[in-house]
Amino acid sequence: MPLHKRIDEDAEIEVNPMCIREMSAEVPRFRIPPRGMLPSTALQVVRDELILDGNARLNLATFVTTWMEPEAERLMAECFDKNMIDKDEYPQTAELERRCVNILSNLWHAPDGSDAPGCSTTGSSEGCMLGGMALLWRWRARRRAAGLDVSKPNLVMGANVQVCWKKFCRYWQVEPRLVPMEPGRLHLRGAEAAAQCDENTIGVVAIMGSTMDGSYEPVAGISAALDQLAASGGPDVQVHVDAASGGFVAPFIQPGLVWDFRVPRVASINASGHKYGLVYPGVGWIVWRDSGSLPEDLVFRVNYLGGDMPTFALNFSRPGAQVAAQYYNFLRLGFEGYRKVQQTCQDVAMYLSGEIAKIGAFELLTDGSELPVFAYKIRDDVTGYNVFDVSERLRMRGWQVPAYTFPENLTGTAVMRIVVRNGFSKDMAGMLLDDLRQQVALLDAHPHSHVPLAAQRAGFAH
Ligand SMILES: Cc1ncc(COP(=O)(O)O)c(C=O)c1O
Repeated sequence: MPLHKRIDEDAEIEVNPMCIREMSAEVPRFRIPPRGMLPSTALQVVRDELILDGNARLNLATFVTTWMEPEAERLMAECFDKNMIDKDEYPQTAELERRCVNILSNLWHAPDGSDAPGCSTTGSSEGCMLGGMALLWRWRARRRAAGLDVSKPNLVMGANVQVCWKKFCRYWQVEPRLVPMEPGRLHLRGAEAAAQCDENTIGVVAIMGSTMDGSYEPVAGISAALDQLAASGGPDVQVHVDAASGGFVAPFIQPGLVWDFRVPRVASINASGHKYGLVYPGVGWIVWRDSGSLPEDLVFRVNYLGGDMPTFALNFSRPGAQVAAQYYNFLRLGFEGYRKVQQTCQDVAMYLSGEIAKIGAFELLTDGSELPVFAYKIRDDVTGYNVFDVSERLRMRGWQVPAYTFPENLTGTAVMRIVVRNGFSKDMAGMLLDDLRQQVALLDAHPHSHVPLAAQRAGFAH
């Protein structure tokens, strides 16, 4: 019941919202309406508008969680009013954040275990910004202490990095040194990374795994090349691992792969709680190897919330519900539960990529054996249509499978990518395959056509 409800002659009778006045009047879109409307009417208007969105469960483009179990949803609803920054007022939410950081620092083998510094963020983009800033600050401090120039910092990474790293470079005026892709090398490797480093390099970004195709960059190999560079008198360059997706996958299904703080050169790691961390958007995490890796002058201490609160984040206010949900997932699933979820995603991804390879029109670039994510292109001898046509035709059935071109030096290669997430079952994969086979058969039968196929079949083609 609204607190200040006033009954007047204009008050609406509660009827089916479809039949009341607001529904027949135009709802203002770009100015706040002079008067409000009933909650049920507002709900209907907004919901009706959102019907035009794609179906999140059919969205194979996103890495971000689209399904959580009812108990987790209930917990999040109970925490919607918690502001993560109010740590003195919500000390237990702050405690859950601290425990999540500890869980991740142990999962990623930080030498200091539970003492490794870290925090939650709004997502990996913010985590990457913070990781990049720490590298920049440490590089500057070292250079200043030695009386050296600090005006030309650069960051070395593959051209396949996610856009947040290009943003980091632009916002903080760091030169991005992007190592291009080459045929047969779709991400950064050690030799190419080391070749780009000089005394102005603040760090190298290694990705677990690449947004472009789901492949893991060889963190240990990149570090070994940097070890060699340092041993031969070159610069001593630290690595930040952007494990936006892999941070919650590799520990569970590729435990033998050494990519985390076991690699001595790795200074910091970020991951998205809202990707394979299995929480709804937006929560991310960043952990540093030890307190020496996080410059103290990046941490602000505020006293106006009560207490003396250290904060190192770009945002001040941010939702606490996702952090509670992350902790819920850790408890609910445990190591074995996470392993099962990620293994199931990988099994479905590999089944799907194997079946797509059999269709005949496609060539796999990756198969889902690293992240449960794979990319494929149209075979060179198929010329009547391209991946954009296939993507558009799948969209007509509701499937959202993105098509895009690779970055330099492979801008002529266009691919489709499928991200298999929790909730995308083998049964759903089977439905997607049926549709994909059917659309490819239609495109094979009507190559070089921009006329809708339904019209062609009905005899309306010119
Ligand atoms: C490798 C990588 N880094 C960073 C990001 C940005 O993550 P977020 O969307 O959590 O900000 C992504 C998102 O896809 C990613 O794949």
